Amino acid sequence: MNKKTLKDIDVKGKKVLVRVDFNVPINDGKVGDDTRIQAALPTIKYLLEQDAALILTSHLGRPKGKAKPEFSLAPVAEYLGGLVPVPVKFAPDCLGDVAKNAAADLKTGEILLLENTRYHAGEKKNDPAMATELASYADVFVNDAFGTAHRAHASNVGVAEHLPAAAGFLLEKELKYLGESIANAESPFVAILGGAKVSDKIGVITNLLEKTDQILIGGGMANTFFKAQGYDMADSLVEEDAIETAKELLTKSGGKLQLPVDVVIADDFAEQAQSKVVPVGDVPSGWRILDVGPETVSAYAEILKSAKTVVWNGPMGVFEFPKFAKGTFGVAESVAASDAVSIIGGGDSVAAVKESGLDTKVSHISTGGGASLEMLEGKVLPGLAALTDK
Ligand code: 3PG
Repeated sequence: MNKKTLKDIDVKGKKVLVRVDFNVPINDGKVGDDTRIQAALPTIKYLLEQDAALILTSHLGRPKGKAKPEFSLAPVAEYLGGLVPVPVKFAPDCLGDVAKNAAADLKTGEILLLENTRYHAGEKKNDPAMATELASYADVFVNDAFGTAHRAHASNVGVAEHLPAAAGFLLEKELKYLGESIANAESPFVAILGGAKVSDKIGVITNLLEKTDQILIGGGMANTFFKAQGYDMADSLVEEDAIETAKELLTKSGGKLQLPVDVVIADDFAEQAQSKVVPVGDVPSGWRILDVGPETVSAYAEILKSAKTVVWNGPMGVFEFPKFAKGTFGVAESVAASDAVSIIGGGDSVAAVKESGLDTKVSHISTGGGASLEMLEGKVLPGLAALTDK
């Protein structure tokens, strides 16, 4: 990587502004899934060992430039306090005297979390005044918020103009897998792409067609490809506006795009719906496709067996309903069983891998949703571009 990382900069005894992605679910005022908080711990603990004073910033949700209590980071401060060896102080604003004084009073070996950066409209506008104010609290800046790296905001991009700016350990790890491992992928390189919409994945498919040996398609987006091939999809979800694009991608793919051979259909979009397995062309009227079928799972397993690099984004079916989860979990098992470098990017496929208990058997699970998709599209993320060159 041509950007400075945490070990390239001197943080000993310094005030360090650390942008983390603590955009985590809050249920009834308590932290739900803590994956992103856990993922930031290596950087936080290293900085504590270096006797730095840590000023953490993050957004949470989309409060649209206003202070709304349901988007407060206060529950995260409390939660983080249970994971680190020092108390976590909290400032109820990230700007103004309250933040400035809390940062000024902070001693080495202490942690301060500032309130949601998106309580201020300047955050999303990458307002220079907001960036200057945030930067004024510290001597150096560490960006560890991979999940936000596709946004050019004041707290991750603007601040980097004012301070020596390095990538934290999480950002570095994400880039190692989603950047380097994919750029220098060992062949056979297989991508698995699912999810509802082709339109969300056009950039990813286009970029991965150049890099991979095969792309295995599943999820609702497969239906749009089937429709493009002339199949009747009955009541299945089809993105009519994307049919032409699907046709173009199929032509361009030179046979690299693999579509399911059988599907699980249902007479209703419901957990208790009647279901059966049929070949792709046999979806009766009134029925819809909700998962890939067992033959598809076996065919994909055969391909994944010899893969050396695998990247997976998006579930194969409606895995929230156990009846329609076999495709997604079956693919998860094949990925976990292979010796390939395996990279799971994006919210739903990450949830599926965790739910199947196979998360320890894959090489990397990304903490980014939109950010990991943009990496797979081959885009340069602004949060990374803003860091100091090596
Ligand atoms: C995410 O959850 O993907 C990141 O925290 C970015 O959030 P955003 O999509 O609201 O910018």
